[in-house]
Amino acid sequence: MGGKKESVQQLDDTYSASQDALSLLAENAELSDQDGRGVAFRRAAAVMKSLPEPVTSMTQLRGLPCLGEHSLRVIRDVLENGASREVESMKQSKQYKALKVLTGVFGVGAKTAARWIREGIHTLHQLRNSGHTLNRAQQAGLEHYDDLNQQVSKAEAEAIQQIVEEVVASVLPGAKVTLTGGFRRGKLMGHDVDFLITHPEEGKEVGLMSKVVSWLESQGFLLYQKTTRNSYLVSDDSPALPPSNMDRFERCLSIFKLAQDQPHRAKQLGALPLDTAEHRRGDSGLQTDQDSCSQRIQTPGGQEDTKPWRAVRVDLVVSPISQFAFAVLGWTGSKLFERELRRWAGQEKAMSLSSHALYDNKKRKYLQASSEEEIFAHLDLEFIPPSERNA
Ligand code: GTP
Ligand code: MN
Ligand code: MN
Repeated sequence: MGGKKESVQQLDDTYSASQDALSLLAENAELSDQDGRGVAFRRAAAVMKSLPEPVTSMTQLRGLPCLGEHSLRVIRDVLENGASREVESMKQSKQYKALKVLTGVFGVGAKTAARWIREGIHTLHQLRNSGHTLNRAQQAGLEHYDDLNQQVSKAEAEAIQQIVEEVVASVLPGAKVTLTGGFRRGKLMGHDVDFLITHPEEGKEVGLMSKVVSWLESQGFLLYQKTTRNSYLVSDDSPALPPSNMDRFERCLSIFKLAQDQPHRAKQLGALPLDTAEHRRGDSGLQTDQDSCSQRIQTPGGQEDTKPWRAVRVDLVVSPISQFAFAVLGWTGSKLFERELRRWAGQEKAMSLSSHALYDNKKRKYLQASSEEEIFAHLDLEFIPPSERNA
């Protein structure tokens, strides 16, 4: 015991253990509808993550920002005992377990989950038998619970990207699809796949979303979708107000039905010139393949124990080209990074940053940008590449 390698390993574990503990407290706060506390713990976890070396003593933490009394207590506990008692007992609590299960249903937020728990609903089984009327999103969430709680891989994201690119190209030639969210930050896993769609000619993007969604629906790619129309008007959006977290782009929250061998097949598909007419007839390579998939499991006596597809959450957002740079920046995340960037803009530069625009409150005008680089320049910041926005 106590060899150099082992003790370094142990330190690394402690190091990430305090991060994990703080992240769990953040999660619990968010699940309990206490966003303020959630942000505080997220910040503390991000500070721990940013440290150049493992922490061995509390004195190393002196003078660091964002570490409140509570966070410091948790870190001390981890340093001294290997784990935080508070976090361990929270993880075991009925309340936390129930919150986790219920908010794991797509379409169920912290408030709804808390209400159900007060009624004594702690499990999916109890929810199903409760007689509650679930909305369409929640019904889909319950139906595809296991799939949606399984992480999405990079390969699956790429397979979906290929489908989305193909659809977009066929309904509006020249339109551009950009992978955003965690995958743009280089993450290998995600809880969903996020796309931003635009067209180099302003105005051409109008009406695009409904066409894309109809096409996807007609091809059986969607298990669920809810499209929200664009509601952004520069004139009605008072720039003096802090930009809200929610943007107003036309967006589609969806659940894709992804064929299980999609990552592999998508590669082959990439080599094929698929034309639009073929899609309209519904006999494209995609469709044929899907059919052969579903036939394969309908063999006599065969139980449908391994279904040939899986449900994946996908967000589609359409932006006019004039707002595209802001939209990419806003939809690349992470959420904490976005929050810090907006705070910097507001507090240090007297500017309001949103996923639509950047407004200079002193000059009283919007600042144009056609790339993320230009936005960072307006903010007097060095460009931070997506892979460094994971905080
Ligand atoms: P995972 O999906 O969990 O892997 O991480 P992610 O970073 O991709 O998270 P998510 O898909 O939830 O969000 C991606 C980015 O889109 C984040 O920066 C969010 O802040 C942003 N985002 C999500 N919903 C909205 C929204 O309604 N409005 C705006 N402006 N941004 C949003
Ligand atoms: Mn995402
Ligand atoms: Mn998303």
